[in-house]
Order: sequence, then structure tokens, then C-alpha cells
Amino acid sequence: MQIEHQPGEYKNVACDLLIFPVFEDEPNGSSPLRVLNKTTGGLVKSVLDSKEFKPELHHTCRLQNPRGLKARSLLLVGAGKISEFTPARLREMAGTGVRVARSCAGRAVVFLSRGVASTALAARIATEGALYADYESDLYKTRDKDEKNVRSFRILFDRKVSGKEVERNIQRGIEIGAATNHARTLANEPSNILTPSQFAEQALEAGTRAGLVLRIMERDEMEKLGMHALLAVSRGSEEPPKMIVMRTPAAAEKGRKRKPIHALIGKGVTFDSGGISIKPAEKMEDMKGDMAGGAAVLGAMIALSRLKTQVPIIGLIPLVENMPSGKATKPGDVVRSCLGKTIEIINTDAEGRLIMADALYYARTLGAGRMIDIATLTGACVVALGHVNAGMMGTDQKTIDRIRKNCAITGEGLWQLPLDDAYRKEIRSEIADIKNVGNRWGGAITAAKFLQEFTENIPWVHLDIAGVDIDHDGRPFACKGATGFGVRTIVQLMESL
Ligand code: BES
Ligand code: MN
Ligand code: ZN
Repeated sequence: MQIEHQPGEYKNVACDLLIFPVFEDEPNGSSPLRVLNKTTGGLVKSVLDSKEFKPELHHTCRLQNPRGLKARSLLLVGAGKISEFTPARLREMAGTGVRVARSCAGRAVVFLSRGVASTALAARIATEGALYADYESDLYKTRDKDEKNVRSFRILFDRKVSGKEVERNIQRGIEIGAATNHARTLANEPSNILTPSQFAEQALEAGTRAGLVLRIMERDEMEKLGMHALLAVSRGSEEPPKMIVMRTPAAAEKGRKRKPIHALIGKGVTFDSGGISIKPAEKMEDMKGDMAGGAAVLGAMIALSRLKTQVPIIGLIPLVENMPSGKATKPGDVVRSCLGKTIEIINTDAEGRLIMADALYYARTLGAGRMIDIATLTGACVVALGHVNAGMMGTDQKTIDRIRKNCAITGEGLWQLPLDDAYRKEIRSEIADIKNVGNRWGGAITAAKFLQEFTENIPWVHLDIAGVDIDHDGRPFACKGATGFGVRTIVQLMESL
């Protein structure tokens, strides 16, 4: 899809689809909608009067051969209330238009009048929405693909704007949108294709191309470092474990100034069968996406590198497959983590926290001064927050507040859960320093308490994205499947530093 700035007036623009946002509380004065109504000879008013179209969020109405316009069709897109409009809604509105445009595979133009976003931000956000919407998760379909990618998407403002500034921000949107789709593709890949080795190999290639400095840690080095929590998860699988270690140029520089290094750690379980504590068959196929946190870290690192970030960031993705076998870890087994703490593995299905424990500690040995981890960690988080918000916990309240504030821009919902020390007693073990599960209550929090044991008091934020990593229903602006959740949150946060 070609994405560009479209100068001029919309009525003179030849295209297949003109996407026009309509607000619920459109003022009757000289609003853009009134102008459009006049241009089209009363078409808009007649549609609104007929009640066939209500400008509720994401509702659409497509009008063929509209009078007074050069566009082949006009798409009215409900944008909700003006007072509630956010960049996140702008992204979804643009995406909703693009999904409709896919049916004609044509040239789409979106008209942006005013709103909460500056010109620069609006251009970037609309671009992200367009790319997100033009993505399809039918990776392995060889037939029955009736929808096609949109040929071009142009952004048209109702005011005089700097074309250069708009183009620059479109470019930013392209990087972020492409990285998000990259993360979605990885999470949608079946586990027979995307093994830990494959993930590592692909990351090495894509990351290097984006300007990151990467290396892959192999099993023998993990053994030397004593990462037995991670290795315990990998034991049951024929697939060797890997750990991606990557740095932005600013973090790779030798003798760089002592700015604190930020570490991003993403869970990379390429398939989670549960291991000996095996999962029920129903929906087990979703566990091919148990590396969505790792995919988000890779996507964000690539985007940040391509956006020429000056922030020193280390990205770590521990990669394993969690399988039962004669060699697999068994409930009751005790292992020693690389930090030195011993762990009683009560449930082999609580594997994410085991691999993340060793990765968190390793981040610290690399000099991390702040850490953010992202993981499809607990079903309990889905019980608590459903599919709307991810869970957020940690010891770095300033960063938590900032991430929460950014939600209106990123469109990725996050909600903080508590992390009182009183939850710690749930993971006390009789035989070892700690055990890997608590009782059934507050499971998202006890999982985070487990991780906290390995952060060594470094300011840390934990994002539990189980529940938001996959969209089972599809949205007007997105297909079903992996969401790429976390890429935009991480990029927005790092760019604001
Ligand atoms: N990967 C799962 C969590 C998950 C569940 C992600 C649903 C996405 C959707 C994780 O490894 C897991 O199995 N967690 C267990 C922990 C339990 C054994 C303490 C869970 O939540 O059931
Ligand atoms: Mn599990
Ligand atoms: Zn898991």
C-alpha cells in the first residue's frame, strides 16, 4: 500500500473511496459535514435523516457515485462524540475505512478535518491505522482470498499544512505500523514453522537489517550461566532453546556515557502445551501465540532502531517450546535459577515466569537500569480484565503512570493491578526458596510477585498481555488473530524519554 499526503480539496480528488468521519454531536454551524452535504446536493442529510446510518463509533455507510465529488464512492464513518475523540479513535476510524476499501482494492483518501491530534500526530496515527487494517492473517490460504490489499491510501487535511512534515510523520507511522504487523505475523505463525530456532534466525536477519546489534545465546551458554529455570521448561522439547540478545546502537556503543540502559524482556514460548501439567485440548492451538510478548519486543526494537532512537535499549527474548516427554520437568522438581534462588516447580504450565526469571536476572547482569517485561503470562489476568485491557504491575510507578497516559494515543488498553507484599506468601515453598504457583486467587498478581523476586530492586514494569494478544472476533478496523499488542505502547514510551 502506497501511503501519501494528498494536497488540495477533497471534492476534486479522483479516488475509489473517500473516507469521511462523521461525529455524533456534529455542530450544525459550518461543520465539515454541512459543507459535504452542500457539495453532494443534500446526500448526507438524506442519509442521516433516513436513520440508515448512525454516526456511532465504527458504523459505516457507503454511497456510490456521490454527486459533486470526483470520488467513485463516499464512505461515512461514525467517529463517536467530538469531545471523546482521541488519537486512538482516529487510528480506528482510518482503519475502518481501509477495511472497506479492501473490497475494491482501490485508492482510498481519508479526510481529516480537526480533532484532538496535531497535523503531525494525525498523519502518523492514520498511517498506523491504515497499515493495521490492510493486514490479513490468512498466511497459509492458497485460495478463496477475495479481499485485496488497498493500492493507495492518501491523507487529506482541510487546512494548509506542511507537506514535508506530513510526509515525515507518515514515514514514522509506516515504521510503527509495519513493526506491529511484523509482530502479528510472528504470533500468527504456527509452532511447527516458528520454532525457537526459526524465531531467532528471523530476528537476527530482520534486526540486523534494521540496524540493531544482535546475538543468539545457545543452550551451552545458558548452562554455563546456570539458567536452569529456563532450561527446565525447554527440557521436554526436541527444539533447542534460544535467547535473542539485541541492542540499539546507543546501547551497543563502547565507552558510552553512563545513561541508564533500558531493558525490554519478552516471553517467547513458541508453543505452550503446559508440559507434564498438560493443558486441556480446547483452545490449546492459541498457545502458538505464547511468544506474543517476544514478538512485541522484537517489533518495537526494530521500529525504534529504524526511527533512529538515541535511547540505549537492550532487548531480550528467551525462546523455548513447553512440551511433555520422558525428559520433561515434572511437578515437584526443584531447579536453581541463574540468580541463585531455588524454585520448586509445582505446575509445569506456569512456565512463562520460569523463563522470564532467568531473562530478567540476565538483563541486570548486562547493566539494565530499568526493565519492562511483556508476557502472555496468566489466564488469571484474562479473568480479571477480559480482552479489553492488559494487566500492568511493577515497582516503577512513574513509568506505569506514563504508559497508562499514553493509552489514549496508542489505543492499547492497560490497567494497573496491585502488587502488595502480602501476596508474596502465596509462592513460599517448603522445600525451596520459592515455588512457581500460588493458589487460584489473584493469579496474575502472584505471577508478577514471582517475577519481582528476580528484578533485584531495579525499577521494573510487568505487562501481562494474555487476553489482548489475540482477537478472536475481529474488529471493523482489523482482522481476527494476533494483535501485535505492545509494539505501540513500547515505542511510544521509549520515544517519550
Ligand atoms: N501461556 C499461559 C497463559 C495464557 C492463558 C495466555 C490464556 C493466553 C491465554 C501460561 O503459561 C499459563 O499456562 N498460565 C497458567 C498458570 C497457572 C498454571 C498458575 C494459567 O494461567 O492457567
Ligand atoms: Mn503455561
Ligand atoms: Zn505460557
